Amino acid sequence: MIADFSSLKDSLSVGEELSAMKEPIDVLIHNAGVFLKRRELTGDGFETTFVVNHLSSFVINYLIKDKLKSQEKARVLMVNSEGHRFAVWGIRLDDLNWQKRRYSGLKAYGSAKTAQLLGMIIFNEYFEGSGVTMNAMHPGAVRTGTGKENGAFYRWYKRTIVDRLSRSPEISAEALYYLGVSSDLEGIGGKFFNLTTEEIPAPPALDTETARKLWLESLRMGALKDGSL
Ligand SMILES: NC(=O)c1ccc[n+]([C@@H]2O[C@H](COP(=O)([O-])OP(=O)(O)OC[C@H]3O[C@@H](n4cnc5c(N)ncnc54)[C@H](OP(=O)(O)O)[C@@H]3O)[C@@H](O)[C@H]2O)c1
Repeated sequence: MIADFSSLKDSLSVGEELSAMKEPIDVLIHNAGVFLKRRELTGDGFETTFVVNHLSSFVINYLIKDKLKSQEKARVLMVNSEGHRFAVWGIRLDDLNWQKRRYSGLKAYGSAKTAQLLGMIIFNEYFEGSGVTMNAMHPGAVRTGTGKENGAFYRWYKRTIVDRLSRSPEISAEALYYLGVSSDLEGIGGKFFNLTTEEIPAPPALDTETARKLWLESLRMGALKDGSL
């Protein structure tokens, strides 16, 4: 299935197609993400970093949650980031679109990754005891195309400085493989791993009250019909 995850229509149709599939989904990895130095809006009018890093995976997870539960066994992994810690003061539910504040690429990235971790709290409540687990991970500081959407100066800085300090993405792939199939992780959900080492996320990513509010807001933004679990 080919989709542009900045388009809610595309994310909804992927979620619907996956939920209608007869085959089980054993492991689902949400990998898509963007880091944008400048504020951009999607065709739906939402801030792009938030949509690609959080809302698209939220919509898909929401639409397939019943299928996964009925399978009684599945793992969902989210490629998140230590960058969620950039949202030092948490996410602003009243300004997810960055209209009331000066946009910052790092803060928007941190907020979107925090949003994904907050969504994970509620999904894991739903999956509790069902054999389905959802975890998030930081893939390491690795040499990829990340940031390629930004201007020439950023791309030069990334190529000449960041990439030299970064490692091969093979380490991320190995970690994802372990988290996806290892029996060590059987029944373990709602955790954040730096590669394969469990870590405690930043406090804003553990705030259940905000998680519940964000859940409702994400349903509204995704135009998802049923607001209850
Ligand atoms: N690299 C790092 O050091 C690092 C550190 C922490 C976290 N991460 C996270 O790791 C994940 C993978 O990023 P990466 O480092 O591999 O960067 P990347 O090379 O830029 O890859 C980003 C991935 O997201 C996909 N994507 C971006 N926008 C999309 C959209 N609108 N619709 C569908 N797919 C879209 C890209 O698809 P296309 O290839 O088709 O564009 C690509 O597969 C991201 O979630 C990122 O936040 C990376």
